[in-house]
Amino acid sequence: MLNKYLVLVVVACLSFSIKAQEIDPHSYANFDEVKVTHIDLSLDVSFERSALSGTATLHFTRLVPNATKLILDTRDLNIGNVTAENGASLPYVLGKADPNLGQALTIAIPKKTNAVTVYYETSPGASGLQWLTPAQTAGKKQPFLFSQAQAIHARSFIPLQDSPSVRVTYKAHLTTPKDLLAVMSASNDPDTKRDGDYHFDMPQPIPSYLIAIAVGDLEFKAIGDRTGVYAEPSFVDASVKEFEDTQAMLEVTEKLFGDYKWDRYDLLILPPSFPFGGMENPRLSFITPTVIAGDKSLVALIAHELAHSWSGNTVTNASWRDLWLNEGFTTYLTYRIMEVIYGKDRYDMEALLGYQSLQSNLESLSEPDQKFTIDLTGRDPDDVFSEIPYEKGALFVRELEQKVGRENFDKFLMQYFEDFAFKSLDTETFMRYIDKKLIKPYNLNKPRIEEWIYQAGIPKGHAIPKSNAFTLVDEARSAWLSGKPANNINASNWHVHQWLHFLNNMPEKLSDTQLIDLDKAFALTKNTNNEIAHSWLMIAVRNNYQPAWPRLEEYLLTIGRNKLVKPLYQTLSQTKEGKAFGKRVFNQAKSGYHPLTVKMNEKYFK
Ligand code: BES
Ligand code: ZN
Repeated sequence: MLNKYLVLVVVACLSFSIKAQEIDPHSYANFDEVKVTHIDLSLDVSFERSALSGTATLHFTRLVPNATKLILDTRDLNIGNVTAENGASLPYVLGKADPNLGQALTIAIPKKTNAVTVYYETSPGASGLQWLTPAQTAGKKQPFLFSQAQAIHARSFIPLQDSPSVRVTYKAHLTTPKDLLAVMSASNDPDTKRDGDYHFDMPQPIPSYLIAIAVGDLEFKAIGDRTGVYAEPSFVDASVKEFEDTQAMLEVTEKLFGDYKWDRYDLLILPPSFPFGGMENPRLSFITPTVIAGDKSLVALIAHELAHSWSGNTVTNASWRDLWLNEGFTTYLTYRIMEVIYGKDRYDMEALLGYQSLQSNLESLSEPDQKFTIDLTGRDPDDVFSEIPYEKGALFVRELEQKVGRENFDKFLMQYFEDFAFKSLDTETFMRYIDKKLIKPYNLNKPRIEEWIYQAGIPKGHAIPKSNAFTLVDEARSAWLSGKPANNINASNWHVHQWLHFLNNMPEKLSDTQLIDLDKAFALTKNTNNEIAHSWLMIAVRNNYQPAWPRLEEYLLTIGRNKLVKPLYQTLSQTKEGKAFGKRVFNQAKSGYHPLTVKMNEKYFK
């Protein structure tokens, strides 16, 4: 009897495949039973109502032949109707709303149905969209819309299976006000006529977080034959100049890591409220204007978003738990691209600055959050953002490179990008792959690799990046701290990165006299490089240096990139005076911020 029972249990277990929610706890979708493979969008863009409205037709295949329902992810969508191919309405249920995940949309699918059309409208507060008034743009005349889907915000503007383990091709038809241009993470014809009626095609299967849309008074200018810039007219020229090396970056990356598989590579320069530095939307990276510095000092961001075309867009993390596979490899590739185009000194400086931000980030992270693979069940991926997947990821990849030699490692990477092209993989699959391709053939220390991947912190004995260009900066800082006046420092030839190293490594507390001395010698409060300004303002906030506060206010009111504003708000919130100031500025800035920047910072001023 007992044996019979055991056999039954074993058979029952074997007949169940891995459940979708075990692969991705951030999706309600039943992609283990029914997989969406193509989406046709037909949407009207209404700036009056701050809404996208129309239809999404989802074509799917059944992995379980008798599946009777299709479960999609949604967030704050108003669903009008759901129909089958023949136009017949299909029963559906919208589940209870979860603050992190949104609502499941469960649709009954009759036997012969292989596509459903969802009639829907987004809500004005959609977490993945920002609707800007003309006043919030550079040109001041036209409104602007952009999306930001990573990690789980695509569901706030399209009902879909919102997991990076599902890939879809898509086509879209958008209608917009006639004098605006629409672009998407798909085919964008640089010669498109501006008439308010636009068609897009993304023929390669991509994960949902890479679906992207922007609409505004956009102009296009070419950089090279496969590269160009879309931006508001008043900064197209400055953008083309700043990012003129994009075509060279593309060619370098192809040479190192294999063909670029996505046809064109264009940049879209967004208004300053864009919440990230950049977003690797395929064929069209979305870029913050805060990196237009006039001297190409911050263009590593472009190398980073471009590199994602290989690590991220071609080979994709299966869930947000595996984010380090996207960001770690991309950070490693970024440094490699920068090295070829701008030289070893630049590589060294950027790698060391990256390492330093990892070190300071580590101090504030709980032990579980210092691992590559974090159990994110019940957590909002936006809250778990850290340097771990990026800089710890890059350190690990660099150690692999050093162990097997650069030439061998480049071959391995090229093969990796081929073997997993247009696939999503998790950390365990990656481990099995490197076991076969690197650990066994090169006799690498497997327990050490497992330590990198599964343990908190950084394994002892890792290589620390070095930069000779920073030695003189360290000397200047020490001399100044020991009492030499700031105008004795010969910094006239310092690169932006040397300034960042100088400022980021100051002691926690400085006196008013010291701050006045520095500011007088180098006009730091007036510095227009947004990274230098950020580092200086962090010092100003920590030390309550009042002369910089008007600049701080202007900075917080004009920039919405979360990485630049969040540390300022967080530090402000730690003192009574800072909190009052921060709260006043935040409340004023809020209506211009993206929903994500609001969500990430409002907690400091509750
Ligand atoms: N894909 C990321 C942005 C992202 C990550 C959005 C996770 C949502 C969730 C993008 O490629 C990125 O890493 N941007 C960085 C660039 C930097 C590391 C060069 C940024 O925005 O700061
Ligand atoms: Zn990235």
